[in-house]
Amino acid sequence: MAVLARFARALSTKVRVRQHVNPLARRFEAPVALPDWPALFPAGSSTVHLDIGCARGVYLASLARKYPKQCFVGVEIREPLVLEALERLKEDDIRNVHVLHANMNMHIDAILSSFTPSLAVSSVSIFHPDPWMKKRHLKRRLVNPSFVQALAAHLAPTTPVYLQTDVPELFEYMVEVFAEHPQLFEEMPGPHETNAMGVPTDRETFVVDHGGDIYRTTFRVK
Ligand SMILES: C[S@@+](CC[C@H](N)C(=O)[O-])C[C@H]1O[C@@H](n2cnc3c(N)ncnc32)[C@H](O)[C@@H]1O
Repeated sequence: MAVLARFARALSTKVRVRQHVNPLARRFEAPVALPDWPALFPAGSSTVHLDIGCARGVYLASLARKYPKQCFVGVEIREPLVLEALERLKEDDIRNVHVLHANMNMHIDAILSSFTPSLAVSSVSIFHPDPWMKKRHLKRRLVNPSFVQALAAHLAPTTPVYLQTDVPELFEYMVEVFAEHPQLFEEMPGPHETNAMGVPTDRETFVVDHGGDIYRTTFRVK
């Protein structure tokens, strides 16, 4: 029986959760609990890379192994995925990554101001955000004008924001939203043929394995 129970637990370690959640739902308005960042990261850390919509954090763990001297923060709205990510990071003794449970649209100001003065956000990735294709759902998209303005208000000049998606309509839309603020962001010249962080994300790997295309660009804070 004990063997069977262990086997069942092993099979269920990958948490099943709803595929998309509505970031405008009231339950995601609750204030976010922000950690004491310097206490979480190795002494002497001064910069973090911020990955928005990091899902299970598998990609962040790979980044952490590739860049052991860099600190990473992932933000994810679905709590079960955050709990799974934190457990995996602990098990693997990865100390240069933290995953925060938060709604980036709702808490962007609080999150971005929480790093200063001890840490600076040196780069941001927004990889394969939920597409929300129906017209009545467009308001749920992560990238929107107020999100872009908040990013620019908190990030230092020249900070890169890496964008990537496999949905061409979403790509055009994101580029348009950033490009509508030429006083805040400038698009970096391409080609942007490879993942800017040098590690494919889970969604990227899935799309490439199924023969799909990836659309990428980088905007830099002015
Ligand atoms: C399609 S997945 C992509 C995951 C990962 N970036 C990748 O490329 O494999 C998008 C992720 O963003 C998360 N997300 C969506 N809206 C969010 C928000 N407002 N704040 C934080 N995370 C969000 C979703 O829960 C989901 O895990």
